[in-house]
Amino acid sequence: CGIVGIVGRDTVADRLVDSLKRLEYRGYDSAGIATYYKGDLLRRRAEGKLRNLENRLSQDPLPGHIGIGHTRWATHGAPTERNAHPHAGERVAVVHNGIIENYAELKAELAAENVAFSSDTDTEVVAHLTDRELVKGLEPEEAVGRVLRRLRGAFALVFLFKDYDNLLIGARKGSPLAIGYGEGEMFLGSDAIALAPFTDRITYLDDDDWAVVTHDKATVRDATGAVVERGTQVTAAGAFLVDKGNYRHFMAKEIAEQPEVIGHTLAHYVDMAKGRVKLADNLPFDFKSLDRIAISACGTAYYAGLVARYWFERYARIPVDIDVASEFRYREPPLNSNGLALVISQSGETADTLASLRHCMESGMKAAAIVNVPSSTIAREADAVFPTLAGPEIGVASTKALSCQLTVLACLAIAAGRARGVLTEQEERKLITALIELPRLIVDVLKIEHQIEGMAKSFSKAKDVLYLGRGTSYPVALEGALKLKEISYIHAEGYAAGELKHGPIALVDETVPVVVIAPHDHLFEKTVSNMQEVAARGGKIILITDERGAAEAEGVGEVLVVPASNPFVAPMVCLVPVQLIAYHTAVFMGTDVDQPRNLAKSVTVE
Ligand code: G6P
Repeated sequence: CGIVGIVGRDTVADRLVDSLKRLEYRGYDSAGIATYYKGDLLRRRAEGKLRNLENRLSQDPLPGHIGIGHTRWATHGAPTERNAHPHAGERVAVVHNGIIENYAELKAELAAENVAFSSDTDTEVVAHLTDRELVKGLEPEEAVGRVLRRLRGAFALVFLFKDYDNLLIGARKGSPLAIGYGEGEMFLGSDAIALAPFTDRITYLDDDDWAVVTHDKATVRDATGAVVERGTQVTAAGAFLVDKGNYRHFMAKEIAEQPEVIGHTLAHYVDMAKGRVKLADNLPFDFKSLDRIAISACGTAYYAGLVARYWFERYARIPVDIDVASEFRYREPPLNSNGLALVISQSGETADTLASLRHCMESGMKAAAIVNVPSSTIAREADAVFPTLAGPEIGVASTKALSCQLTVLACLAIAAGRARGVLTEQEERKLITALIELPRLIVDVLKIEHQIEGMAKSFSKAKDVLYLGRGTSYPVALEGALKLKEISYIHAEGYAAGELKHGPIALVDETVPVVVIAPHDHLFEKTVSNMQEVAARGGKIILITDERGAAEAEGVGEVLVVPASNPFVAPMVCLVPVQLIAYHTAVFMGTDVDQPRNLAKSVTVE
């Protein structure tokens, strides 16, 4: 989960560990470093905290002026020393963040050539694939180029080679990676924080970039292999923890981080190798015997709950009540001790949500909380805490926290479906595969950002905007409208598409953009008929759908094409364009995107 690399002038082992310490905030369960020294690739790895690695290094130091380091949060395989990074073949050592989706296929291919594996990780496949190319006599750059073309997923990688004491190669595909410039030394790191001990001069790689780094320079190439200039910036040392990177606003950075933080959250809840959800054994409730779930939350977190209602009901057959927290407790709902209270909150401090939690606990219900801030009040008080691993969210308008809340809820729904015997093992695996593919799909969605930026001007002129969706696209419509209201101050409404004709259709004319969220699922045709009702009244349609949907709805207005996905995860795919519409409209209008007027990040009053 944290990556660092140094092409140094001096011994690097201690400095690698120093940098990893800065990355501790990301969470990890094992760590390791590798160096190259006089003909050998050397490694030290340890389970658990960094001090275990430090102890090992003090007994058995690592020489070498070049090296890589990693803190790992287990995805494939247990958090043991043998699964800790770096992973190595004969001629290369590799550190990796993220998910390699097709690793099983690649592993089978290598196993057929009698390659022996010494870990259960997806990363080791990368080391052996690279080795295979190097053995054929390819130069490291060519070998890595070939290997990258074989890997599917969203990830970042850094390679260290035997017999090259002045060369690291880093690649970014979905997960961030930055180059740091020192005095006669160069660095690679998963973010500015990793590089903080060494330098404040940084280049952020773009997606699909890869960089060849020597002690005095870095050459960056894009996916086509063409050399590109990405620009260098100086980062203020004190601002590292809340660093905007090369984004104009925190919100832009947080939207772009979604593939990474979803991957991070998945790593916590999914055993990727087994294709199963893993939850703690000692949960204070049992999905099997629950007779209902009562969800309460506020704002964007409430919409996470709305999506989850569809999931819990469909995949686990548990009835779900859901309410905004400020209504829930005054509604005096009959609560029963065989139900589970579930609250969702980014900050873990929202007053109404906290009050809901206490109210449920006082009436004898077990309460679980999904929170992003682990030290928060809600996290401390709930019977069970399911953390989202979105990292600090600075933009007041929530984006990546929602994606991670949905990721956790999706995992809980799968676990519930399994516990209640609703999902077969095969169905469970299918849903998990869909989740594992999600970071990559979102990397692809982010590629339509430019198209969305081009629409900002026309949105900025609107006085009202409607968002429509059915099924799990309905909460996405609500979230789209909320985001636009929050940061551009344009009035917007989210509606269930079928409800359009019961009121909001009266608003429609040629000045009203109507954003329709309709992936090609079992509700597509119905949503399309609602869309035709809008078109017939001159409404300006912006359709968010996949390729199949786009083909069937041709000629309808502007279409934003997102990758096709399992309908289970489609709301998470379609969420990104509505976030980007709000963001670019607000930027175009010149509002204070990260701190919109009248709003607070954490609302601790009723
Ligand atoms: C505020 C924020 C929203 C957030 C809501 C709930 O209104 O501006 O972005 O969704 O609070 O916050 P929570 O921390 O409980 O998720």
